[in-house]
Amino acid sequence: METVLVTGGAGFIGSNLILELLKQKYRVVCVDNFDDTYKLKFKEEHISPFLKNKNFVLYRVDICDMESLRSVFEKEKPVYIVHLAAKADTRDAVKNPYIYISVNIFGTLNILELSKEFGLKRVVMASSGSVYGNNRNLPWKEEENTDLPLSAYGATKKTTEMLAYTYHHNFGMNIICLRYFNVYGENNRPNMVPYKWAEAFLCGKEIELSGEGTRKRDFTYVGDVVNATILAITSSLQYEILNIANSQPVSLKELLLVFEKITGLKANVRSRPSHKASVNEMYADSTKAQKLLNWKPEVSIEEGISKLVTWFRENRLKKSV
Ligand SMILES: NC(=O)c1ccc[n+]([C@@H]2O[C@H](COP(=O)([O-])OP(=O)(O)OC[C@H]3O[C@@H](n4cnc5c(N)ncnc54)[C@H](O)[C@@H]3O)[C@@H](O)[C@H]2O)c1
Repeated sequence: METVLVTGGAGFIGSNLILELLKQKYRVVCVDNFDDTYKLKFKEEHISPFLKNKNFVLYRVDICDMESLRSVFEKEKPVYIVHLAAKADTRDAVKNPYIYISVNIFGTLNILELSKEFGLKRVVMASSGSVYGNNRNLPWKEEENTDLPLSAYGATKKTTEMLAYTYHHNFGMNIICLRYFNVYGENNRPNMVPYKWAEAFLCGKEIELSGEGTRKRDFTYVGDVVNATILAITSSLQYEILNIANSQPVSLKELLLVFEKITGLKANVRSRPSHKASVNEMYADSTKAQKLLNWKPEVSIEEGISKLVTWFRENRLKKSV
């Protein structure tokens, strides 16, 4: 049984990944400091189904704390690492850049150093579609210009991709950077549009629509993202950057219609100005990942939003909104 260390495993994508890794008979070591970006209670709920599993170990450790992190590597001897821990809110990063630089860059440097020291077989790191900024050459391919991210968050993700390359080049490490796009689904991060809208529809709240609702996003279901991530762990790739996206852009107006159809409810919409760090259209070409990982997104926006709404009803509505 091989051990996978997952950083940020109490979060949205991480908890979905752990669920699937345990199903696939991996042993999982989770490192997460349960930061206060959103309700602690939500992260505890994400992680609680795993706590009794004998193939799961949780460390409440900050990735910036090198010595505690080293003890985890020493004790658990992971074979692979999926590094998801990060500060991940684009707008917040515009206001609070220091913490983003500290966690996303220095924390990632710690992960790379320890992965080198302990000879991990493969490092899979979460990057983001935000590295492309407002690049107009859509759909974005991996080789497109990423020199103009719109927020410190995007800038940290670009920096970590570059750091990863230097570790591959100098030490022969196998590192794959996955550029995730607008991930949504079960355990959704609460500050993201699909979660906010599920909450608004189901709790009868007002929906905030950015601008005219014409902004397009490449909403990608979390189950598809998890599949790509596990394929990346077991691939034989040495250094790659891959877009992990549904590659079907959906405007916010269209997303509203999907929610209305699935919930059978009418949206109560209030427009608000768009944020300056928000891009007009995000849309990726994911054929490279499809080819190199033998992966493809399977879940349509209707099916994915339906899963999100069901999860929201059964969890947040009953337990904790
Ligand atoms: N959700 C998306 O649409 C999306 C898109 C692109 C990229 N990503 C990236 O995917 C990764 C996971 O994102 P998510 O949406 O699951 O976010 P999330 O906030 O739900 O999860 C991140 C986790 O990292 C943990 N964390 C934060 N700082 C830490 C630290 N210093 N030490 C240890 N743990 C720490 C948090 O407690 C949290 O549980 C992030 O790297 C994010 O940048 C996400």
